[in-house]
Amino acid sequence: MTTVRDVRAMAGNEQITMLTAYDAATADIVEEAGIDVVLVGDSMGNAVLGYDDTLPVTLDEVASRVGAVARGTDEALVVADMPFLSFGADPAESVENCGRMLKEEGANAVKLESGPHTVELTERLSDVGIPTMAHLGLTPQSVNQTGYTQQATDREEATEILELAEAHEAAGAFALVLEHVPANLAAQVTEAVEIPTIGIGAGGECDGQVLVFTDVVGLAESSPPFAAQFGDARAEIRDAVSDYVDAVRTGEFPAEEHGNTEDELDDLY
Ligand code: KIV
Ligand code: NA
Repeated sequence: MTTVRDVRAMAGNEQITMLTAYDAATADIVEEAGIDVVLVGDSMGNAVLGYDDTLPVTLDEVASRVGAVARGTDEALVVADMPFLSFGADPAESVENCGRMLKEEGANAVKLESGPHTVELTERLSDVGIPTMAHLGLTPQSVNQTGYTQQATDREEATEILELAEAHEAAGAFALVLEHVPANLAAQVTEAVEIPTIGIGAGGECDGQVLVFTDVVGLAESSPPFAAQFGDARAEIRDAVSDYVDAVRTGEFPAEEHGNTEDELDDLY
């Protein structure tokens, strides 16, 4: 089993690979392919639940998917991404919601879209045994304030991210996602903190990279500019399903080897 200690120890030695998964079957494949950290991202909102953004994703939806991914993996570190408004308002409720992911669903850690409001919470979670991954830069739950554009393009914002990275490290975060920020800022943050930085649209100087599963395999309807496609699963799936449709329509399926042969009927009657 991969622990948060293992992930921390990888920083500076080998690149950490992180990818999202939202169900047991996919998590099994992702793990078999060698991914270190499986993130049950609230990107499930756009990726598989049919929402326009991540804001409507509920705690129950994430919990259900975290349980499935935890059951589908043996080795990888499973991180539950806490959805919009499940943390950050009321401290006790935040701890309870995060704790549910470990206690009831089998996650190993949680991720919080971070800001000044998550420093104390990160410390509290760390105190009670819930490892926390921070997330700075573009935080899509704040889309109504920031849009989806690159963040920290001026010195003031860059300084704020650097300070928040250090504050979350001091509060006990075990890793930090940096999303859609200038590569030189990501490099500077990576230098400034000891915990691993995991980048998405943040250049090549981070301690690891994360992407969304549907983008990587070619299942997404649309992808952000910094995503990369490494396969064409949409075409694979469409071809398999259309072959099935054809086989049923032509009577090629089911064939004898698929059961219901006359021999079986003789046995039955
Ligand atoms: O929800 C998600 O998939 C994420 C990653 C893109 C970091 O937060
Ligand atoms: Na997310």
